[in-house]
Amino acid sequence: MHADAAFVIRRAGPANDADILPLLQEAVTAIPDVWYTACQREAWKALFTPELLAECLRPEAHAVVAHAGAHLVGFACLAGAEVKMLYVHPTVQGTGLGARLLGMLELEARRRGVNRLHLRASANARAFYERRGFLQDTTAQAPTSCDCAGNVLCTWLAKSL
Ligand SMILES: CC(C)(COP(=O)(O)OP(=O)(O)OC[C@H]1O[C@@H](n2cnc3c(N)ncnc32)[C@H](O)[C@@H]1OP(=O)(O)O)[C@@H](O)C(=O)NCCC(=O)NCCS
Repeated sequence: MHADAAFVIRRAGPANDADILPLLQEAVTAIPDVWYTACQREAWKALFTPELLAECLRPEAHAVVAHAGAHLVGFACLAGAEVKMLYVHPTVQGTGLGARLLGMLELEARRRGVNRLHLRASANARAFYERRGFLQDTTAQAPTSCDCAGNVLCTWLAKSL
C-alpha cells in the first residue's frame, strides 16, 4: 500500500465482515500517544465487537468500504443522523480518503432527508471534523467516554447539512 493508491469505494455488506474489525483495530493502534495512551486505545478497541459491526452493516444503516487493490483501507458508517464510524488505515491516512468517505456519508444523509449530522469526535480527529464544518454540539449532553480507567473522551460535534 502507498499514499497515492487509487481507492475503490463501495457499499459494505456482511461479506466484508472479516476484514473490517482488523482495520478498525489497526487505525486505533496507530493513534499517537499524545492523544490517547495505550491503555485508552485498548479500551477503545474493545468496543469493536461483531455486534457493533453488525449494527453498521444493517441495511437501514449506510456503510461503505474503501479498497486499495486487495487491501481494505477505509470504513465509514452512517446510522440515522450519526456518523457512527470513520476509520482509515494508517498507511493511507493524509491522502484525502477520510475526507472523501465523510463527504459520501454527508451526501447520503442529505439524500435521506437528514438536515443535521452528529458524531462523537475522538480528540485526535476533532480538528479534522472541525475543518469540515462540524462544530461542538451544544445541544448534546455531556461528552461521552469509553468505559476505561483512562477515560477515552469524545466530543459531540454537529453540522447542518
Ligand atoms: C480521522 C481519520 C478518519 C482521517 O482520515 P484521513 O484519510 O487521514 O483524512 P484525510 O487524508 O482526508 O485528511 C487528513 C489531512 O490530510 C490532508 N491531505 C493530505 N493529502 C491530501 C490529498 N491528496 N487530498 C486531500 N487531503 C489531503 C488533508 O488536507 C487533511 O488535512 P486537514 O484535516 O488539516 O484539512 C483518520 O486519521 C483515522 O482513521 N484516524 C484513526 C481513527 C479515528 O480517529 N477515527 C475517527 C473516530 S471519531
